[in-house]
Amino acid sequence: MAAHSKGTKLTKNTFEPRGSICVITGGGNGIGKAIALELAKRKASTIVLVDIDTKSTTSLVSQLQQSFPRTKAMAIKANCCQEKDIRYVINKVEHECGPIDAFFVNAGILSTGGLEVSEDEWELIWKLNVMQILYVARHLMPRFVERKRGAFVITASAAGLLSMPGALPYAVTKHAAVAMAEWLAFTYAKNNIQVACLCPQAVRTDMTALGDGNGGPAGLDGMIEPADAARDTIETLKTGSFLILPHKQVYKHMNRKAKDYDGFLKAMMKIDSMFGETFKNVPPNSRL
Ligand SMILES: NC(=O)c1ccc[n+]([C@@H]2O[C@H](COP(=O)([O-])OP(=O)(O)OC[C@H]3O[C@@H](n4cnc5c(N)ncnc54)[C@H](O)[C@@H]3O)[C@@H](O)[C@H]2O)c1
Repeated sequence: MAAHSKGTKLTKNTFEPRGSICVITGGGNGIGKAIALELAKRKASTIVLVDIDTKSTTSLVSQLQQSFPRTKAMAIKANCCQEKDIRYVINKVEHECGPIDAFFVNAGILSTGGLEVSEDEWELIWKLNVMQILYVARHLMPRFVERKRGAFVITASAAGLLSMPGALPYAVTKHAAVAMAEWLAFTYAKNNIQVACLCPQAVRTDMTALGDGNGGPAGLDGMIEPADAARDTIETLKTGSFLILPHKQVYKHMNRKAKDYDGFLKAMMKIDSMFGETFKNVPPNSRL
């Protein structure tokens, strides 16, 4: 059992990867790609990779087909900032493959900086890191409710629990992602819908390759591999715990924040003085 859980189960059923139909946004690279490989290892029946980066999804579909011939792998090009694309993905998968068992809302971007960040950049990161979750919920939850089952997994970030020096839009949108995940969890648990929220610190992906290459402030507790985050995600889903914390230190920092909020902010000031200025010049990693 994870340190942050006393074993309380919100839903009767928890996600079982074997034989499942799964959709992963941002499935072409990084954490999304690792989740796809982990699900294939655990014998998912269908894995749908949703991404704007078709080169990566095409190559991952081939890799999955070769290594896991019993798992059907397909890619759908979609811009997850757009509700019509999300609606199209859900309709297409349910029509061509069957009822979705688990949806991993994972595509996200980093946008650094502070008050100077432009309205356009705020709009882009808000749409992808926050509104995407709403779009998926809007078009998928009614189907889950009708079937009285389904897993909804949101990749937020430790930045959504602890903030992030030098990256105001990222910190704000990831707090919103956690808020959205919490709300969905307590609202839909009565319908037996499992909602979980993945909150890692630094993971070695294209996102952390930016800047100092060590994840800046997110890398202080060390960098993990995408495969570690993916394994922890699927293992934690089995337990029914809402929070997925591949970096165990995050729970310690959350406790500190709850017990001594001002002390927590003082510690964040120190991290801001170490990373804030340099990190805020890292360019956004949007592929749009
Ligand atoms: N890497 C980390 O240290 C870290 C830590 C905490 C949380 N996260 C979160 O994990 C998630 C995955 O990030 P990652 O590190 O694997 O990054 P990544 O850049 O390796 O992968 C992100 C994927 O999302 C896709 N994408 C970007 N914009 C899109 C759009 N508009 N529509 C569809 N797809 C789009 C990209 O093409 C890419 O395949 C993000 O939500 C990120 O915020 C990452």
